[in-house]
Amino acid sequence: MESVLILDFGAQYSQLIARRVREQNVYCEIVPYNISVEELRERAPQGIIFSGGPRSVYGEQSPRLDAGVFELGIPILGICYGLQLLTYQLGGEVQAAQKREYGKAAIIVDDNQDLLAGHQLGSDQSQTAWMSHSDYITQPAPGFEILAHTEHCPVAAVGHRQRKIFGVQFHPEVVHTPRGREILHNFLFNICHCSGDWTMESFIDTSVEAIRLQVGAGQVVCGLSGGIDSSVAAALVHRAVGDQLTCIYVDHGFMRKGETEQILTTFGRDFAMKLVHVDARQRFLDKVAGIADPEVKRKRIGNEFIRVFEEEAVRVGDAAFLVQGTLYPDIIESGTEHAAVIKSHHNVGGLPDDMEFDLVEPLKALFKDEVRQLAKELGLPEEIVYRHPFPGPGLAIRVIGEITGEKLDLLRDVDHIFIDEIRRAGLYKDIWQAFAVLTNTRTVGVMGDERTYDYVAALRAVASEDGMTSDWYRMPYEVLESTSRRIMNEVQGVNRVVYDVSSKPPSTIEWE
Ligand code: XMP
Repeated sequence: MESVLILDFGAQYSQLIARRVREQNVYCEIVPYNISVEELRERAPQGIIFSGGPRSVYGEQSPRLDAGVFELGIPILGICYGLQLLTYQLGGEVQAAQKREYGKAAIIVDDNQDLLAGHQLGSDQSQTAWMSHSDYITQPAPGFEILAHTEHCPVAAVGHRQRKIFGVQFHPEVVHTPRGREILHNFLFNICHCSGDWTMESFIDTSVEAIRLQVGAGQVVCGLSGGIDSSVAAALVHRAVGDQLTCIYVDHGFMRKGETEQILTTFGRDFAMKLVHVDARQRFLDKVAGIADPEVKRKRIGNEFIRVFEEEAVRVGDAAFLVQGTLYPDIIESGTEHAAVIKSHHNVGGLPDDMEFDLVEPLKALFKDEVRQLAKELGLPEEIVYRHPFPGPGLAIRVIGEITGEKLDLLRDVDHIFIDEIRRAGLYKDIWQAFAVLTNTRTVGVMGDERTYDYVAALRAVASEDGMTSDWYRMPYEVLESTSRRIMNEVQGVNRVVYDVSSKPPSTIEWE
């Protein structure tokens, strides 16, 4: 498969570069900057992009490149630090600037043959670029021509045509560089001569092949939660190895209304997967009986989950592989420790030594929106494709205080009404996450002529990009009104409804 590789020097924008490349139908993956030259040669990408990075080429700890990379004959585009590094290593001059240049700068184009094709020579209003650097280049490496400069930056873009090595000091991947896409397009198509025939469908084909190659005739297990990541990973692996895959769905009893049925229908019936449904509801309820402390709840549920999963995995027989729905952002967020964390996680319950799993992680190069696209291609239902995030411990951390079966049932009904009203208003996809919480507070109410003393339900809906920070969602009054009315009428045991107007920080999205 045709691909472009990004050598990652620790830039915050690496993932954005990958996205921009894939948007142009060229498959792109991010790899560590110190990938070996042999591996690069083997993978034979159509082009290589050096990302930016937080360091200075003069720093003692700064990442350096194996010079062999320049000899591969594969076109290279260095961005920001990537450009400074290639300039430095190929004999040009990089200077430490006194002041960081940060923001938009007008680009003055000196050469518009290939990388900057379509640009006007000289300056033009549309030719602005986003700069974010302290060091800058004063003298390109021998053989390099200056393609553009700015008022403060003598070298904003360079190229060595014969060696097909190019670089830009600015960031073509961000929206603040209005013609950045065009510049990346020029690199991909004028310089790397990519064909641009990559689609999600072709991603499915290559993933299927790769999974088959990895797994061989081995047995594979997958923990299915009904969330999009594990669902897509399972569907993809199932397409690759069919009945060699066994999915294990552990119903801990903290799922939302109708969720278990949907998982069984979608995967067991529609996809005809081998699906083990473990009804562990009582077992989990016993584990959290009388526990009010959120951390203790979480720990007990987490441990029990692993224990149940292991017991079932052993029953599958000699499963050697475990499917994980790991996405690219998960990898970045947990740094290089990621693989280790996963291992220890699945070993917490004390997996027998002879039951070490190899991980199958078919989504690890993708972003959430790409996984959604993939889910649609694979034929997963809308409810799964657009489902809001749901925490592992489920409703157990949304019933505040001690958990009982009755409280869980109450919460399931309240939550269902809220989500139903949001869907009816057409707002579901607009909201990052919406749910109900059953507080541990009871208040006095009046129903008919009777006094009531029932629970307060809280509604929470948040807007967020990634769940790390969030703002409370400005829910239209009509939705709050209809939700509240229906809860009061339809759910016995709740006589007061409140809406949570806290942002994160200082609150968190979940209450526990
Ligand atoms: P908080 O409450 O920390 O939540 O603001 C941020 C996001 O993470 C989800 N969340 C979890 N997801 N296991 C998960 O898989 C968990 O234990 C867990 N706790 C919180 C939460 O729903 C929100 O999307």
